[in-house]
Amino acid sequence: MSDRVAIDVTIIGGGMITNDLILPSIYHLERMGVVKNISVCALTNAPLRHLKESQELQQAFPDQGFHAYPSLSEAPDKMLPDLYKEVLAAMPSRQAVVVAVPDQLHYPVVMEALKNDQHVLCVKPLVLKYAQAVEIEGLAFERGLFVGVEYHKRFDRRSLMARRRYALGHFGEFVMGEAKMIEPYYYRHSNFQNWFTTDKSDPFTYVGCHYVDLVYFITGLQPVEVSVSGIKGKFPNGNEGYMWANGRVRYENGALLSVINGLGYPDAGAGSNDQCLIMYCEGEDGTGLIEHDDQYRGVAHCYLDEIGCGGSRYNYVSPDFYRLVPWSGGPRLGRGGPGAMPVGYGYDSIAATINMIAHIENEVTSLDVAASLLKRQGIIRETDQQGIIATPANSSINELVTEAARLSILNDGAWAKIVGGEKPRVEMR
Ligand SMILES: NC(=O)c1ccc[n+]([C@@H]2O[C@H](COP(=O)([O-])OP(=O)(O)OC[C@H]3O[C@@H](n4cnc5c(N)ncnc54)[C@H](O)[C@@H]3O)[C@@H](O)[C@H]2O)c1
Repeated sequence: MSDRVAIDVTIIGGGMITNDLILPSIYHLERMGVVKNISVCALTNAPLRHLKESQELQQAFPDQGFHAYPSLSEAPDKMLPDLYKEVLAAMPSRQAVVVAVPDQLHYPVVMEALKNDQHVLCVKPLVLKYAQAVEIEGLAFERGLFVGVEYHKRFDRRSLMARRRYALGHFGEFVMGEAKMIEPYYYRHSNFQNWFTTDKSDPFTYVGCHYVDLVYFITGLQPVEVSVSGIKGKFPNGNEGYMWANGRVRYENGALLSVINGLGYPDAGAGSNDQCLIMYCEGEDGTGLIEHDDQYRGVAHCYLDEIGCGGSRYNYVSPDFYRLVPWSGGPRLGRGGPGAMPVGYGYDSIAATINMIAHIENEVTSLDVAASLLKRQGIIRETDQQGIIATPANSSINELVTEAARLSILNDGAWAKIVGGEKPRVEMR
C-alpha cells in the first residue's frame, strides 16, 4: 500500500440508496485504500440493522462493516433526529460526509457537515432552493471544502459521449426532446410514504431532475421556464403524494424537453424501472439525434426464484448503472474473502467525488494552513469549470428548475419562469 492518506466516511441516512449504492461503493473504496473508517447514521437503528444483516452486502464485502449511530443496542423505534450533529462534531476535520437523507433534509445536513469542516457528497437534488445552493457553494469555497452532487447519469459513458460530440458540433443545436423515468410501484410501500408528500416532493423533483441535469450536462443550455402537472394518489399509510408528473422545460434557445415521471412501473415488470431520453437537434440543412434507451440495454436474466433485483424472475439486468460482479482482489485482499465489487456509473459517480476528496487531502498534506486553503480552493474551481462532477457551482440551475417545478405543480401546471440576472429567482409567468 502507498503512503497516501485515506479518509473517513460518514454516511447520514441508511435507507434505500445507502443500501443499494452508497454503502457498497464506500466499502469497495475502503478495500481500495481510499477510505478508512466508515460510519452510518440514521434516524433510528432499524435501517442500520438491515444494512448489517444484508446477505448481499455480507457476501460481497466479507469482513467489512461500519459504526452504527444510533447503536444497535438502542430500541429500534427510538428516533434520534439530531444525533447526526453529534456524529459530525466527533469527526476529525476534512473527512467526507455522504448525505443520503430525504430531499428536504439535505440543506440542514450539508450545512452542518460544512460547519464541522467536512467535505460532502450529497445525493441529488442537492437542495430544494437555489439560494441554499448558493449559500452552500459560498461556505464550502470559503473553507476549501469540496461538495459533489451525486447526479450519476453524468458518469454514464453514453452521457459522456453525447457531451463530447455535442460540444464538437456533431449533432447541431438541441431543439426538441423527451425523457422518461418511471420508478417501481413498490416504492409506494417504502419509507417514501412518510416524506414523499405533495407539500414536499413529486416525481419530477425526485427523478425528473436526473434528465434535466443531463440535458444541461450535454448541451450547456440553461432552462428558462418550467411547467409540471401532477396526479395525486394515496400512499398505503393514507398520506397524499403526487404519484405521477408530466413536465415541460423550455430552454434559453427556445428548445423544449418534456419529461414524464412516476412511482408506477409495474412490480411484475422486467425493468426494473422505465427510463429513456431522446433529443432532436437542428443543424445546417439537417437534424441530429441523441437517443438513449436507458432501461433495456440488451441483457436479460430469468432466475429460478425471485431474487429481488427486479420485479419478476425475468429481468432486464442492465450492467450499466450498478451491479456486483466477482472481484479478483486488490490492496486489501488479505483481509478476507474476495467477495464482489460494484461496477457501473453509479459506483463511478460515488468514486469520482470520494476520490476527489482524497486527492484534495493528499495534495495538501505538507502545506501550511494558508497554502492548503488556496490549493483546495483552486482544485474546487477547476472541478466547477470542468463540469463533469456536479458541484453547487456547475449544477445549481437544477435548484432553479426544482423551485420552478414545485411552484408550477402546486399551481396545477401553470408555467413558472426562471428570471436570470445577479440574483436568479423563479416566479409565475
Ligand atoms: N437515483 C438517485 O440518485 C437516487 C435514488 C434514490 C434516492 N435518492 C435520494 O436519496 C435520498 C434518500 O433516499 P432513500 O431512497 O434512501 O430514502 P429512504 O426513505 O429509504 O431513507 C432515508 C434515510 O434517511 C434517514 N433519516 C431521516 N431523517 C434523519 C435524521 N434526522 N438523521 C439521520 N438520518 C435520517 C432515515 O433513517 C433513512 O435511513 C433522497 O434525497 C433521494 O432523493 C437518489
